[in-house]
Amino acid sequence: MKTKIALVTGGGRGLGYEFCKQLAAQGTTVILTARNEERGLAAAQALQSAGHDIHFRRLDVGEEADIAALAADLKKDFDNIDLLINNAGINAKSSGAGESNFLRNFKLGDLDPEAVLDMMRINSLAPILMAKHLLPLLRKSRNPKVVNVSSWLGSISEKTNGGNYSYCGSKAALNMFSRALAFDLVREGVTTIAVNPGWVKTDMGGSRAKLTAEDSVKGLLAVIHKVKTPDAGKFFQWDGTEHPW
Ligand SMILES: NC(=O)c1ccc[n+]([C@@H]2O[C@H](COP(=O)([O-])OP(=O)(O)OC[C@H]3O[C@@H](n4cnc5c(N)ncnc54)[C@H](OP(=O)(O)O)[C@@H]3O)[C@@H](O)[C@H]2O)c1
Repeated sequence: MKTKIALVTGGGRGLGYEFCKQLAAQGTTVILTARNEERGLAAAQALQSAGHDIHFRRLDVGEEADIAALAADLKKDFDNIDLLINNAGINAKSSGAGESNFLRNFKLGDLDPEAVLDMMRINSLAPILMAKHLLPLLRKSRNPKVVNVSSWLGSISEKTNGGNYSYCGSKAALNMFSRALAFDLVREGVTTIAVNPGWVKTDMGGSRAKLTAEDSVKGLLAVIHKVKTPDAGKFFQWDGTEHPW
């Protein structure tokens, strides 16, 4: 059987690195992309030294020109892409250092339109632009899948408190973009889903989080491998259950 090829954004650390590690251990060829070249290369080398088939590419998902250049470059080296995992993301804490940056994303009185738009560029729009530019390679797969890493904080029905405008809004927009994308692409045999990884111990999730990256990604990969075209447009949790919108 032909080896599967997966591309992961934000693969240098956190859930992105864990996706690369577990996919590679399953025998998948992994294109590990990262904005930070030093960190991405170190992550790729660590997995290569464990004997895995890992290819590093630098990618800032906030720059469409970067995404387009990556897609053109990949066409030279790969016949197809079977799985695109749009994992890269930021929240109010990780979008920039300091309390004032946190507040300009989080609190009504301090809200800064530029901060909100920056977050939407990375969390909401970038996954769709990734699909737009990688579609020619996805089309060449026998069973292509696009996975958008969202959050329970993007669920409108579960939002019962104020604040956190930019992160919650950006993930809610990602959920809607994922639905639109899913219906566009399913006609071409591509299955697109949104996933909630749960509260995970990473730089973003912090040490008090309930899940390890290993357990979250193990559950998410089981979901990803199981879904078929009738599941396009659904929102799944790491444990395989469907998440309310
Ligand atoms: N951890 C949780 O509890 C949790 C819960 C729900 C959803 N999520 C979602 O899960 C995904 C992964 O989160 P995580 O917990 O692994 O976060 P993390 O530890 O903060 O890692 C975030 C990753 O995104 C990358 N990234 C940020 N901006 C980027 C850009 N412009 N271009 C390319 N890469 C960029 C980072 O790269 P650098 O190293 O270059 O900064 C890093 O690899 C995110 O979409 C997040 O919203 C996480």
